[in-house]
Amino acid sequence: MKITARITALLAASFLFALPAHAQKPYEPQVGQSGKDVIWVPTPDEVVDRMLRMAQVTPNDLVYDLGAGDGKIAIAAAMKFGARSVGIEYNPDMAKHAQGNVEKAGVAGKARILNGDIFVTDFSQATVVTLYLLPALNLKLRPTILSMRPGTRVVSHSFTMEDWEADEISSMDGRRAYFWLVPANVNGGWALETGGDKSELSFEQRFQKIEGTVGLGQTQGGLRDARLRGFNISFAYVDDKGVKRDYAGRVTGGKMEGSFRADNGTEGRWTATKK
Ligand SMILES: C[S@@+](CC[C@H](N)C(=O)[O-])C[C@H]1O[C@@H](n2cnc3c(N)ncnc32)[C@H](O)[C@@H]1O
Repeated sequence: MKITARITALLAASFLFALPAHAQKPYEPQVGQSGKDVIWVPTPDEVVDRMLRMAQVTPNDLVYDLGAGDGKIAIAAAMKFGARSVGIEYNPDMAKHAQGNVEKAGVAGKARILNGDIFVTDFSQATVVTLYLLPALNLKLRPTILSMRPGTRVVSHSFTMEDWEADEISSMDGRRAYFWLVPANVNGGWALETGGDKSELSFEQRFQKIEGTVGLGQTQGGLRDARLRGFNISFAYVDDKGVKRDYAGRVTGGKMEGSFRADNGTEGRWTATKK
């Protein structure tokens, strides 16, 4: 009798312990709740839409939302744009809640939420990075972002990257969204070869802004219209015969290659190798 009573008590206790798991209220995040480095405030739908459109997200993209909140950016990237997406969220309850939202939205095959710290978790494979953080956090992430593959698209709701000027600023309802393309690194000297002719190219780079010179015998000819967009580079110069030559090409690590066209009608290919 005593044993039966004990078993009954144990069963009752285990039932009581099991009960909360089923009867627990679902986790309800509160706007403004604290986060590790920044509170949770969701980006409004129309801003999410513009951010993903500015980045021209396609099904070929892998979008990372740094500080995922309820997962809405990762979900929109997968649902509306067909991209694969990952949200990184530090708060474990929020990450679980966001993963639940991913599943409810029916995009678990494309989107997922990682419980992690944006300053620790690797997001170097992203082709698009989205942010709604704080200016100081953008700045802290900036070196990591600038070391990503050239051409990676970055969009930030509300906050800038300080002196790395945005390539586009869109606004809606008093909110701003900033867009950047990660530029290739072209700073310094390059050996230019154009159809057997060799000369020296030199670039001074500050983020996506470049200026430069080309060696024309004793003269350092200034480059005109020098422009760097991700891995695409273009520039022009007037050669020692007074002919303007327009160059356009692509930067891949320590190499550039592309085509040129001169005002006298000559055209062809060029390469440049980092010195
Ligand atoms: C302003 S909310 C933005 C949420 C979402 N990206 C959006 O735009 O709707 C920032 C989120 O970042 C999370 N967070 C804060 N510090 C973090 C960190 N170091 N690593 C990952 N997530 C973090 C917060 O918990 C919060 O959910």
